[in-house]
Amino acid sequence: MKAIAVKPGVPDTVHLAELPAPKVTDVPNGRGVLVRVLRVGVDGTDKEINAAEYGQAPAGYDFLVIGHEGFGQVEAVGPNVTEVKPGDYVVATVRRPGSSIYDLIGTNDMTTDDTYFERGINLRHGYMSQYYVDDADYIVKIPQGLKEVGVLLEPTTVVEKGIAQAYEIQRRLRVWKPKRAAVMGAGTIGLLATLVLRLKGLQVTTFGKTPKPYLNSDLIEAIGATYQSTDELSILEGAKKYGQFDLIFEATGFSPVVFDSMQALGKNGVLVLSSVTGGDRKVEVPADRINLEFVLGNKVMVGTVNANREYFEIGVKDLAQAEAEYPGWLPRLLTHPVKGLENYQELFAKLTNPNGAIKVFCEVAPL
Ligand code: BGC
Ligand code: ZN
Repeated sequence: MKAIAVKPGVPDTVHLAELPAPKVTDVPNGRGVLVRVLRVGVDGTDKEINAAEYGQAPAGYDFLVIGHEGFGQVEAVGPNVTEVKPGDYVVATVRRPGSSIYDLIGTNDMTTDDTYFERGINLRHGYMSQYYVDDADYIVKIPQGLKEVGVLLEPTTVVEKGIAQAYEIQRRLRVWKPKRAAVMGAGTIGLLATLVLRLKGLQVTTFGKTPKPYLNSDLIEAIGATYQSTDELSILEGAKKYGQFDLIFEATGFSPVVFDSMQALGKNGVLVLSSVTGGDRKVEVPADRINLEFVLGNKVMVGTVNANREYFEIGVKDLAQAEAEYPGWLPRLLTHPVKGLENYQELFAKLTNPNGAIKVFCEVAPL
């Protein structure tokens, strides 16, 4: 079968690879689910992997099949699989268990192991191929009515985890009733964070760099959130105008925004950090003031990465609620389809030169 792969450690090596097709029996205990891939999304992580900044090949291989935002249809299942059947639409989770206590209880996303296994990213082949097989434990069923937007589930889970963690942490306050939220960044994750917070009934201000109007600001306003360009109003001025924020979700990929966000956070607020920033940028910050306000305001800041099965299941519910409450909104995020695995160069061209792209994805096979 065909797959799109890279040579980790060597920049710009994305290529079409030929691999033996997987079989249901590749997974032990009759728990295999063979999936025919329909769509696979790409994001900044794929860009970094192809730039050799990130990612490792599985043991015994000198290449890594990429793709961690999969969507497909079950082709066959092993004898001990009852959760899904052939014909069902599914998405697979990304991280596989290591050995820490968090992995042992199914929360692989919280691993404390230094080496972690992520399909399509680190030490495990991904989903950018005609088929993949995995244990039913990692396969999440998508209702038929969500097939058009199923490829958005994995990025949604990253948001779901961050927000669920924030609410979990805020149980410390006994009576936390968040009203105002800010989202830093209006890219795919920022848009999805805006959506999830709107579905929870919060007032949301989403900060992006580009002056409005453009597609992303239109999308933000279409679900009743406010878009604010930081070219027109800095985050700190914006916080005065729309704040103080009870919850801030940071997804700009630009680490200095973290320190502005710390200052825009209200008393008892929670700041969720989700940007993976591989560089070594340095900035000067008003450290005393930030620290003082954090201490006197009982504020909290939390990092979040990846998502376990629980958040995939919450994500499915939120995608369904979004389609019901804001019909047609999610499909508008699917801006840049690329047909066929063989067009991987076009896929990466669109990813590296976004030109208004929200979600670039490969249509491996028709829905
Ligand atoms: C993926 C996550 C993953 C993270 C770090 C993100 O792009 O969506 O699942 O944990 O990269 O590798
Ligand atoms: Zn990702």
